[in-house]
Amino acid sequence: MKTRIIHFSDTHEPATLEHWHGLCDKRLMGWMNSSVVRKGRYNRDILPRAIEYILQNPPDLVVFTGDATSCGQPGEFARALKLFRPLLKTDIPFFYVPGNHDAYVSDKACQDALQRFTRKMSRGKYGLEDYPLTIEFPTFRLLLIHCAKPFNPLLSCGFMTPETREFLLKEAARLEAKPLICAGHFPLITQSSIINFRRRLYGSSAASALVQDGVIALSLCGHIHTPYELLDSNGRGEIIAGSLTKNGSLAEITFDSEQNRFSLQRISLR
Ligand SMILES: [Fe+2]
Ligand SMILES: [Fe+2]
Repeated sequence: MKTRIIHFSDTHEPATLEHWHGLCDKRLMGWMNSSVVRKGRYNRDILPRAIEYILQNPPDLVVFTGDATSCGQPGEFARALKLFRPLLKTDIPFFYVPGNHDAYVSDKACQDALQRFTRKMSRGKYGLEDYPLTIEFPTFRLLLIHCAKPFNPLLSCGFMTPETREFLLKEAARLEAKPLICAGHFPLITQSSIINFRRRLYGSSAASALVQDGVIALSLCGHIHTPYELLDSNGRGEIIAGSLTKNGSLAEITFDSEQNRFSLQRISLR
């Protein structure tokens, strides 16, 4: 049996300054980044194109690993949701995990907007309080983890809570033949460099070992905007989708349960 997964990430709906409170926190830096540094380099028209591709070539499931917004403000979530709506109206299984830009600041209006967005993106099935969670598929188990929380303006790090760590270890200990796929925003395998240190996921060493030891067959993530993959000869390891709106590509993964193999193809939408 073959199962097709489409994975993409980091669509980053551009920011506007929505409230004067945003002048006093990280949103000011995020807005400048969105409207100066990223302007012209990220193309939000790619997201409707990606959704059209998905609707024309329906996979068994779609995974979006977060950073739907730039500063996690209500207006950004509303505009992003509009773009996702054609996909949400179908019955194609679709899973979202928040990115650090979606949980950008602790401002109540922004946090409430993230909660509403998460509920809508799950077609009303789950909210922020329900992560981490397990979704059973006939040939594998999908684990959704949420490690984003507001952080200081100079860093883009995530935190894996002890509860999420326990959850992964418990899922890993279940003696079943089905492979585990973990979907989260942050890469679990950190490559050492100063830039990656600024973007690392704290508390993830046990999870990283689970991927490197093959206990978690596949980690799907985003956060790093250039796509890459760290895979063995059976396609097991970690796939970083990259930013859809920057690179214009989707990751299409096929799991062949007879051969127990994953294969990856990057689909260019440019
Ligand atoms: Fe991002
Ligand atoms: Fe990110």
